[in-house]
Amino acid sequence: MALPEKRNRFFIPFANLVFLLVLCISLLDKAACIRIPSQISDSVVDSPDRPLKSAVFALGSFWRSEAAFGCINGVVRTTAGYSGGLKANPEYRNLGDHAESVQVEYDPRIVGYRQLLDVFWSSHDSRQVFGQGPDVGNQYRSCIFTNSTEELRLASTSKEREQLKSRSSIVTTQIQQLDTFYRAEPDHQKFELKQHPLLLQLIGNMAEEELESSALATKLNGYAAELCPPRIQKQIDARVNEIIRKGWPVLRDI
Ligand SMILES: *[C@@H]1O[C@H](CO)[C@@H](O)[C@H](O)[C@H]1NC(C)=O
Repeated sequence: MALPEKRNRFFIPFANLVFLLVLCISLLDKAACIRIPSQISDSVVDSPDRPLKSAVFALGSFWRSEAAFGCINGVVRTTAGYSGGLKANPEYRNLGDHAESVQVEYDPRIVGYRQLLDVFWSSHDSRQVFGQGPDVGNQYRSCIFTNSTEELRLASTSKEREQLKSRSSIVTTQIQQLDTFYRAEPDHQKFELKQHPLLLQLIGNMAEEELESSALATKLNGYAAELCPPRIQKQIDARVNEIIRKGWPVLRDI
């Protein structure tokens, strides 16, 4: 992702202003021009007629895990957290026996648990013992946390299939009953996206709470880590570059 940072610093604040102005004019009768509603598309996803499902996985650093699922079509929200241990109220510097995990909220009419399992397997090395890449330790273990017999069945089948791909090493992934998912501290949510101030600016500098629940931020978090499928990565590149070139509007959906 090649973002011409310098130029944008001058363009974007101005762009926000113009956009806000246009918005205020169009909403004058509703007296609603207090802040940029960057969540128009997001607010739809939680409606009662679109019940979401949730799945929890551990596959190394939760910064990267969040990003790995963020761009999948049908995934509407990801949250970094801690699962799989007994310690109550784990914290990043004191997580006890928990694994860094990601909770993936998804629309089951668009994406299934099976596909999420595919993403899980392809996003990390399930054969690495005691860690993931340079991250060594129990907190980076590979684990599928199941919360129904159907999830357990699908997870077990997919693990067997993964093991059959090669017998020369053992798939270390554990399958464990999901107990509690503890949400991680704000610093660790949408971590990859937060490394790109320009992208945060493009979506209207959301407040932390909004950022954590935003479907758009979820997707951009995957984009920021360059973990979107190539076609989507390119598509978002094009949108981002177009906005940068024009200087507006604020990015509201992709
Ligand atoms: C497990 O599933 C149940 C029922 O679907 C749900 O109420 C519960 O919140 C889930 N547990 C966790 C930790 O997500």
